This record gives sequence, C-alpha cells and structure tokens, in this order.
Amino acid sequence: PSKKIFDLCLKKEIFAPDGYTRNIWTINGTFPGPTLRVTKGDSVKLRIYNELNEETAIHGHGFFQRGTNWYDGVPGQTQCPIPAHSYFEYNFSIPDQSGTYWYHSHFQTQYVDGMIAAFIVDDPNDPYLSKYDEEYVVILQDFYHTEASELLASYLKSTDGDEPVPDCGLINGLGRYNCSRATDGKCKDNSPLAKFKFESGKVYRLRIINAGVFAGFFFSIDQHELELIEVDGTYVKPQKIHRLPINVAQRYSVLVRADKSPSSYWMRSEFMEDCLPDSANETLDDTVKAIVIYDSYPDTPEPDTTAWKDNLIECIDLDPSLMKPCFPQKIPDSDKTFEFTIEFNNNTGYDRAYINNSSYAIKPYDPTLLEIFNGNKEFPVDANVYYIEKKQYLIDTDDGEHPFHLHGHKFWILATGNGTEVNKSEFNTVDPLPRDTTTVPASGWLAIRFIADNPGVWAFHCHIEWHLQVGLVVQFVELPDEIKKLSPPSDWRRLSYTHIINVGRIS
Ligand code: C2O
Repeated sequence: PSKKIFDLCLKKEIFAPDGYTRNIWTINGTFPGPTLRVTKGDSVKLRIYNELNEETAIHGHGFFQRGTNWYDGVPGQTQCPIPAHSYFEYNFSIPDQSGTYWYHSHFQTQYVDGMIAAFIVDDPNDPYLSKYDEEYVVILQDFYHTEASELLASYLKSTDGDEPVPDCGLINGLGRYNCSRATDGKCKDNSPLAKFKFESGKVYRLRIINAGVFAGFFFSIDQHELELIEVDGTYVKPQKIHRLPINVAQRYSVLVRADKSPSSYWMRSEFMEDCLPDSANETLDDTVKAIVIYDSYPDTPEPDTTAWKDNLIECIDLDPSLMKPCFPQKIPDSDKTFEFTIEFNNNTGYDRAYINNSSYAIKPYDPTLLEIFNGNKEFPVDANVYYIEKKQYLIDTDDGEHPFHLHGHKFWILATGNGTEVNKSEFNTVDPLPRDTTTVPASGWLAIRFIADNPGVWAFHCHIEWHLQVGLVVQFVELPDEIKKLSPPSDWRRLSYTHIINVGRIS
C-alpha cells in the first residue's frame, strides 16, 4: 500500500460542452475533472484548493470512510463547508474496496454545474483482470444550460412539482445541442463528440458512471454486446446484455469485444424519458452519442449504425437476476427494521419531499458529527436524524422512482416490488447484491439491509439533486458511543469551530 496525493484546484471557467457556452465549475481546469486512480489498500490525500468565490465540500462517492467519517464531505452532517479561497485536505484509506467510484461536490447544488469525476480503485486480485486488454472511463451526464442556483430557485417556486428538465446530455463531458433551439447566440452547432478508439481483436473494459443529477440512461454500443462484470464496486458473474439501464450515481463495468468489422459505431446514452417531466419529450434529444472508431478507420463521416432494439422498462434498475455477486456473502438477520415512506406534497405552499412526514432542511447547522462529539443528542425534527445500533436493516416504501444512496456502506438489496406492502417472502438472503446506490421503483418498495458497524454520521438520500434539495434525505447516526471514541484531526476541528482554515496557502 502506498500514499497517493492528489492536488485538486476548483475554479469557474467558460466551457461549451455541447456547443452552448456557460460557466462550468472545473477541477484542475477540466470537466469532468481528472480521474483519480489508486490501488486497493492505498491511503489517499486530496488537497483541495478552493479558488471559487463560494464554499465547497468534496465527497468520495461509495467509500466507507471507516474511522474517518469527518472526511466524507457532507456539509451540515460531517463537516463545515470549505470556505471560498481556502485550502483543505481529505485523508482517508481504501483498505477493502475496489472498482469504479466517483467524486463530486456535495455542497448545495454545486455538482449540477460541474465538479464531478471518476475515482478508480485497482485491485491486483480483480477476477476479471486477465479478461481485458484496455479500459475506458465513460461518464454519462444530463446537462443544463442554466446555472443550478437559478434552476433551483425556480423549482422551489414551482407548484406543478416538475423538476428542471436537462437541456442535453454528455458523454465524457461532450455532447451536441441542437442550436436552433438556442436563441441567445451562445450556441455553436456540430459540437465534437467523445471518441473511443478500439483496436481490432482487443477486449475493452468500460467503466460507466452516471454522474448526472436527474436522468437515468440506457447505455449501449451499436452491434456490440456488453458483458456486465461489476456493479458499484461489486464483481458480478458475467452477463451479456445489449442495453444497460443506469440511474443517477450508479456505476457498472462491462467488457466489450472489438470483434466487429473495422468501422465506426454509435455509442448511445438514451434518456429514460418516462421518468422526466412530460415537457422533456418536446425539448430533449432522446439520445446522447459518442463514437467508437476501430483502428485507423476515418473520423468522417459519422457512423450510420442502428441501435439495439431490446425493449426495457424505463425507470427501474437492471433485472437483479442479471447481477449475481461473484463472491456471495451469507447475510445476517436483522435486529431492527426501519420503514421510510417517501412522499411529495405542497402543503406548505411549495413542493417539498418528505421521509416519514419530515422534510430534511438544508440549513447551516453545525455538522451533526460535531454535535455528537460535543455530546448533543437532540436534533431539530427536520434534521431527520435516526440513531442506529448494531446490525439493523431498513425498508423503504415509496411512491416515486428514486436512486437512493447510502454513505459509508454498501447495502444488500433484498427485494423490490410494487405497491406499499413489503413482501418479505421475496427477500433474497442467499446471494443478494451489495451496492451503494439503487432505485426505489415508482409507487413501489425497496428492501435493503446493512450491518451497522461503521461509526459515523451517514447520509441516506435520493441522488436526484433536485429531490435532495427539497428534503429527500435522512442521516443515520451510527453507533454514537463508538463515534465519541474517535478523535477527529485538528484541521477538521478548526474548520468546525472557526469556519476558517489555512487561508493563505493558496495564491
Ligand atoms: Cu454521491 Cu451523498 O452522494
């Protein structure tokens, strides 16, 4: 194991990812930000240079942060935000995880405006290591032309419950907007698309990440099968599919064989429009494209290949029977059950999301973790705090489609179903899939289970950023007595008590 140090400089810059010019919040001048790559067992230091005129916080999505809860990157829960024009370090290790992860801002709606990137953890014992020759990271996103703060402000005022509809989609930061829809002269047609070079005969591992904020996608490559091998850092038994559903914040690895005639092919990321507001049908091109090019095949003209036709249901995850872990674990019974009921209403005059009748309020609280260290046990109702002790599981009932993410853990997926009656006889306790982000079907339920063995304050939330902003969040205070035995580092304390940190280290 070694120590990997990464310098990450956050800045606002002008980009036109899909041809439309706007401000993008960049990491080291790029969008998406730089892929971070470490090996299982490494310790990681992220040196954050915040050159933005606003606060920030960076979250490593999917990492357990065992013993380092204060570096999980959630303002209001695990840290105070990093002030504008200042410096902060995140230090954690990754002893027991590998695969495809990502990192993003967890400050307000900041990641809608940029600040997302891949985080890959190599594993010398990866069972698939010998099965491929090369690999690519493929980041899918929905993309907006208006800055997120403005979108949020109008969403908060809306009464129809419709979330902001993306303008376009991107693959690895590139897309193509139809500029005839932009009337403000800020758009240039025929924006370049992402290209993936294939060498005939080679096998490629694609690490596919939905780093978007709202939409689910179907990912595919014309005429090429995808062999699924990894789901959110869990190796799964190989399965051949044509179109891969991927919801917000989920990751999959697939193997693709470059065994077709040397030519060029469309890579497609199709919006699941059924789970977007109706207006998306009129305003959104339904397929985001990139180009797969074999060998020295010419770049132009662009491919004329046709899409796979398999019919899949939108707005739900891939069939669980296609995601069987390579190394199934025997899972324990649960000691305690939580039921969470998700509801949206506008009883207060504007749309809010409720979990068990309480809407999480994003307020400038002192971080919950600091409160725990200070011995406080009482939190405002709208902090949505749940104390959890050893070995518990939770059930989530719901009337909307929501990609839920739990920090600090992977959870086992026991079952999902329709209606609100959870059917325990359907629970898979033999070989359930562990992952960190999964979809609660619309008007349906999801049952998950995890072992509460990681002391800390962990967010459990819908990863649709708009839903998070209107309250679809709870926080688990896990093993509070154990938390108190941990000792947070001095720079974290300083940030917590003074809200100032190391200003001056950045020019
Ligand atoms: Cu991807 Cu709460 O995070």
